[in-house]
Amino acid sequence: MEKNQIKAVIFDLDGVLTDTAIYHYMGWKMLADKLNIPFDEALNEELKGIDRMTSLNKILARGNIDLSEDDKNLLCDEKNAYYVELIKKITEDDLLPGAKRALIELKNKGYKIGLASVSKNAFSVVESLNIANFFDYIVDARTINRGKPNPEIFIACAEAIGVKCHECIGVEDAVAGIEAIKRANMFAIGIGRRDILIKADIVLESLKDFDIDKLT
Ligand code: G6P
Ligand code: MG
Repeated sequence: MEKNQIKAVIFDLDGVLTDTAIYHYMGWKMLADKLNIPFDEALNEELKGIDRMTSLNKILARGNIDLSEDDKNLLCDEKNAYYVELIKKITEDDLLPGAKRALIELKNKGYKIGLASVSKNAFSVVESLNIANFFDYIVDARTINRGKPNPEIFIACAEAIGVKCHECIGVEDAVAGIEAIKRANMFAIGIGRRDILIKADIVLESLKDFDIDKLT
């Protein structure tokens, strides 16, 4: 990344700004248990950042289970109803450490801020967290044809903000998300573990360690 070229930072939501990744996990684990499909940490990592139906398909593939589209839609609805119950309690206090400070700092320093989550619940979570005003653009997951690891969502966000991809930093907790950022030709910050987010340009333990001045 060349110095001074960064104009925007595009964040993922679940697992980056707030800990909803655990609620998605609980929802999928509930379904997997019901279907008697083993659900381990590796499968959970594979699901992070992946849209709802693709996630279900991965779980069913693990259990060698073949279902009709109608049955799959019912299971997706069931998982989502469970998830929606869990996120009802979300408030500003559920922002992850460093998230609010990072958003304030970026805004004050004149960077554009985007949100690129494939979650169809993203708008409601952002409202509950009371951070909607920080974003120059929030991608509506319903307008995206190809989910992460496809770069479409990050490219669409950069276009909507009015910046070039190489002028963006993407921030992600998921392997699929880091892959999407790199394929979009952006600088990738991983939030989590280096041994998992191997394709990230840098990995931070949390947004507490995020310092835009050290990166640009
Ligand atoms: C995010 C999460 C995934 C989740 C996906 C879809 O990318 O990381 O775990 O499955 O969004 O979320 P949704 O709320 O639309 O089911
Ligand atoms: Mg995530």
